[in-house]
This record gives sequence, C-alpha cells and structure tokens, in this order.
Amino acid sequence: MKLILIGFMGSGKTTVGQFLAKKLNLELIEMDDLIIKKAGKSIKKIFNEDGEAQFRELETQVSKSLMNKNDCVISTGGGIVMNKINIDFLKNNGKIIFLKASFFEIEKRLIGDNLRPLFKNKKSAKKIFNIRQKLYEECADLIVDTDEKSVEKISYEIISQN
Ligand code: S3P
Repeated sequence: MKLILIGFMGSGKTTVGQFLAKKLNLELIEMDDLIIKKAGKSIKKIFNEDGEAQFRELETQVSKSLMNKNDCVISTGGGIVMNKINIDFLKNNGKIIFLKASFFEIEKRLIGDNLRPLFKNKKSAKKIFNIRQKLYEECADLIVDTDEKSVEKISYEIISQN
C-alpha cells in the first residue's frame, strides 16, 4: 500500500502521516526532510539563498526518486501540486489523499509560524490557498475534510476507505 498525502501548509499531512504509518505499519516518508537532506540546509535557507525555483527543482528530484517506492505513507509539501510531473512520479501504484482544510482553520494552526517561507502574511497565503484548491482536488483519489476533526478520526476515515 502507498498513500500520498497532499494539502495546504498546516492541513495535517505530517501528523496524519505519522498516525497512519504507525497504524498500518508502513514507512513514513517526509518529502521536506528529504529535500533538506539533499540541499544540506533548511527550507527557509533554500528559499532565501537559492530561491523558490531551486526548491521546486529539488522537490521534483525527490518525487522522482520515490517513484518505485511501496509500502509507505508519503507526506508531501503543500506546493507539490504546482508541478504536475511530481504527482505523476508519486502516484505510481499509490493513492493520492487530499487533506482538505478551510483557510480559517489553516490560519489558526499556523499563527506565529516562521518556518514556512510561503506563509508570510494572511493576504499572500490566502491567494496561494485559493489557486491551489482546484489543483489538489483535481489530482486527489480521495478528499477528506479535516476541519474540527482529530488526527485519529481523519486517519480512520482514510483507513476505512483503503
Ligand atoms: C510549501 C509547503 C511546505 C514546504 C515549503 C513550500 C508550499 O511544506 O514544502 O515551505 O509551497 O506550500 P508543508 O506543507 O509541510 O508546510
């Protein structure tokens, strides 16, 4: 089984990924961690020193490297859908699950966060959020509404549909 979690920053991909991997006895793969390892620096530094385009390039390289991976839960970065080829690489034998959250909920979760270069302020983040919703929906095999649900509830919804 291969589950690929997509969704906006703060939609719960990491926490749900951890829970699912444990419950289903699958390997958890955090794409952002692989990018950090590859670049040898933090996401913030990649954005500041090399620019977003370089980050996206690394994201695509990591997606490609996971193409033949199985028996895992992959937690993606929120911008994975910006480049369709990423989804083509990741989807191979896998199921794409969109963790859907309202902007209101995302904002509550990310307040005070200074690790995410693309969540600088509410206005610009909302703009990115609006552009991406359709992209997440288009490539999802399963859409799970996460607002006001616990990590356990979200995870069991996913498990029951797989
Ligand atoms: C990004 C989301 C981040 C990280 C990077 C870019 C995005 O991951 O990959 O800051 O473009 O939405 P999370 O979704 O885990 O915050």
